[in-house]
Amino acid sequence: MLVPGPIGVFDSGYGGLTILSQMREHMPEYDFLYLGDNARTPYGTRSFEVVYEFTSQAVKTLFDMGCQLVILACNTASAKALRTIQQIDLPKMDPRKRVLGIIRPTVEFLGDITISRHVGILATSGTIKSQSYPLEIKKLFPDITVNGEACPIWVPLVENGEAQSEGADYFIHRHIDNLLSKDSLIDTIVLGCTHYPILYDKIRRYTPEHINVIMQGEYVGRSLTDYLIRHPEMDSLCTKGGICRFLTTESVDIFKQYASIFFDGDMQVCSIALK
Ligand code: DGL
Repeated sequence: MLVPGPIGVFDSGYGGLTILSQMREHMPEYDFLYLGDNARTPYGTRSFEVVYEFTSQAVKTLFDMGCQLVILACNTASAKALRTIQQIDLPKMDPRKRVLGIIRPTVEFLGDITISRHVGILATSGTIKSQSYPLEIKKLFPDITVNGEACPIWVPLVENGEAQSEGADYFIHRHIDNLLSKDSLIDTIVLGCTHYPILYDKIRRYTPEHINVIMQGEYVGRSLTDYLIRHPEMDSLCTKGGICRFLTTESVDIFKQYASIFFDGDMQVCSIALK
């Protein structure tokens, strides 16, 4: 018998906290265990094999710590590792457990948002190269034209605490211009990396007003709530005490310093090694 546990939430670093805070808004009664691989971030420029290897270590760790459901709150991991973990690893580990990504839940809502049917994706090099967004969008909405722009410097800006610096403006402006020059009909831009909401104010500053800028957290929160209603067997394996705990591969002090932007009050953080 599986013992109920917290919902595991994984990201390469701090970005997944933007998803976690939205999940907590939608599902305050659930327990969450967040894992940030801050010591090895960024993943966005790493190979398929390495992202898969690191993500699979993270999932095993969260399972070992009592989670029965794990959300990859990282687009790069969702794009490069989710399918292999779902199809190859899970059946061997325990087919009753679940690992879900965040690309599909984001894409599902797009059809109702874009009017011009031209969408832009801003994401890491890994996510853009994987073509996961255009593939998922085409499956659900074949009439939508998709263009992507890789922004390899944006995650390092966030992870190094430079999100509010003047230097960040240059790179944010440049990538938005690049994306819009690929397709002038874009009316909706998806922030396809969980770190990017931290840059939201600057992204909005350089994006024409008529263009929607989509942050995933809201949609992932809604989609997960709906998933647990449709899957009561999994819902009964998620504990509900409203508690949130954190794991990081970095030092506790460094993690707390940054993560406190997202969470009020005392944070329970432990440092762990992934292998
Ligand atoms: N936050 C992650 C994403 O959503 C990846 C950032 C990185 O490690 O490059 O893609």
